[in-house]
Amino acid sequence: MERICEPELMDEPLQAQAYAAADFSSSDRAVLERIAALPALLGSGDGTGLSVVDLGCGPGNITFLLARRWPEARVLGIDGSAAMLAIAERRRLADPAAHRQVRFQRLVLPSPELEGPCSAVVSNSLLHHLHDPAVLWGAVKQLSGPDTSLFVRDLRRPANAADLEALVVRHAGAAPEVLRRDYSHSLRAAFTPAEVREQLVVAGLGGLEVREVDDRYLEIQGHGLPGRLAP
Ligand SMILES: C[S@@+](CC[C@H](N)C(=O)[O-])C[C@H]1O[C@@H](n2cnc3c(N)ncnc32)[C@H](O)[C@@H]1O
Repeated sequence: MERICEPELMDEPLQAQAYAAADFSSSDRAVLERIAALPALLGSGDGTGLSVVDLGCGPGNITFLLARRWPEARVLGIDGSAAMLAIAERRRLADPAAHRQVRFQRLVLPSPELEGPCSAVVSNSLLHHLHDPAVLWGAVKQLSGPDTSLFVRDLRRPANAADLEALVVRHAGAAPEVLRRDYSHSLRAAFTPAEVREQLVVAGLGGLEVREVDDRYLEIQGHGLPGRLAP
């Protein structure tokens, strides 16, 4: 099934509000557990000295989970959508513990402003938004060094329209119409594991692991061995 891009930024206020109101908690918790197993974070206690960057953070769902899990880490959420970051910032101000620890920055990727290296780069559901996926791998390289861990999760594109429709019914059947529409477009805009492997080779990140998870996700992860994540 051919890829059809969707708009990159989720910049419509109603779309951002619907996304922020949706319950992604079980999948977000699963992402957090995968992140907790990364070499840079495993056994890191309260996260003292760690810095984590969440690319395409949206309203901050995962950004805040990271901050709670590692209360002494510095956590930076980056997104290009003003509507998403307005929600993220409101949540940050409502959570006294997050004030000191969490920061949000509006950047449309690619951006020369990204500065590394950080301890971990994470990204959930950004890749399929990007018209040019090399933008994500370029950002990962800007933020990485020899001790950086990486975790990326995204949807993977189904083989055909029937499989796509079945996924929408199974996973978003009860969701508001705006979210069902977005989910269907997102599946169609997503990449296959083979496409992602090819992107990584082209980006000089061919050593990263790409794996299929459940019926709809793919995950990319690795640790910054010199010559792999190092720019
Ligand atoms: C599906 S949301 C995921 C939000 C969050 N990571 C989560 O897991 O809940 C994708 C986010 O990527 C952002 N985005 C898309 N393209 C971007 C770009 N080129 N630069 C920065 N952010 C981008 C969108 O604005 C949107 O907030």
